[in-house]
Amino acid sequence: MNKMPVSLTVNGKAVAGEVEPRTLLVDFLRDVALTKGVRIGCEEGACGACTVHVDGKAVKSCLVLAARSNGATVTTVEGLAPARQLNKLQEAFVSCHALQCGYCTAGMLMSAQALLDNKAGQKIEDEDIRHALSGNYCRCTGYNNIIHAVKVAAGQAEPLAIHSEDKDEGQSWIGRPLPRREDRRIVSGRGRYADTFITPNDLHLVACRATRAHAKVLNVDTAAARKMPGVVEVIDGAEATNHWHPIAPSMELLDLKLPRRYPMAVDKVVF
Ligand code: FES
Ligand code: FES
Repeated sequence: MNKMPVSLTVNGKAVAGEVEPRTLLVDFLRDVALTKGVRIGCEEGACGACTVHVDGKAVKSCLVLAARSNGATVTTVEGLAPARQLNKLQEAFVSCHALQCGYCTAGMLMSAQALLDNKAGQKIEDEDIRHALSGNYCRCTGYNNIIHAVKVAAGQAEPLAIHSEDKDEGQSWIGRPLPRREDRRIVSGRGRYADTFITPNDLHLVACRATRAHAKVLNVDTAAARKMPGVVEVIDGAEATNHWHPIAPSMELLDLKLPRRYPMAVDKVVF
């Protein structure tokens, strides 16, 4: 496939590369600009993990072609503050416990920062923050501390108390909020997840979902998939039973009828 030259300014530095016309901006940022803090959650605009600023606007970088962004100025989470430093918003995320696993945090920070930039000097209501973050999913935090952190960064709230790890005489550890050692690394885009370690030669697994919610599996025709370039192996549910044990039930009660479930549907799709 013909490649196209793409040049961007990413976090103040010129970055250029040749990419396929279908290459997404998120992939350009991760693979060419090496700003690995930009995360991929869904690749379809639903989760917001890939949010960056393009020419000053918050954009989901999985919905934009790299070629369409040619010449743009892009800021990622790594560019919010100089190396090894945090800006006000990043500091507030740390001091408010606004992250847990941190996978959503880069995108969350970029959406929140766009709101702070747009509303500089104005009062920001909870409703504004909820609206600005409505395209960013977090599976861990419950959002309240994130909203609080944005208000702290806007100078409208106090940080939540985080005590030091020095144990004062007579104070209990139980119930005491503690600073987390990984948070500063995560909010600056240096968190490491499984996808940090993917190399160009790794094999990728694609799960093909059933098109019916409840149906008998009569036959899975894998012939066309096997012929596709780059496909190394295709495994259907029937073959999987040769390699995998059924998933262990979470509880075994007397007389409880337990189905044998495998990681892939074997003879029936049930949900
Ligand atoms: Fe872009 Fe989910 S990866 S919105
Ligand atoms: Fe885990 Fe948001 S902190 S997904």
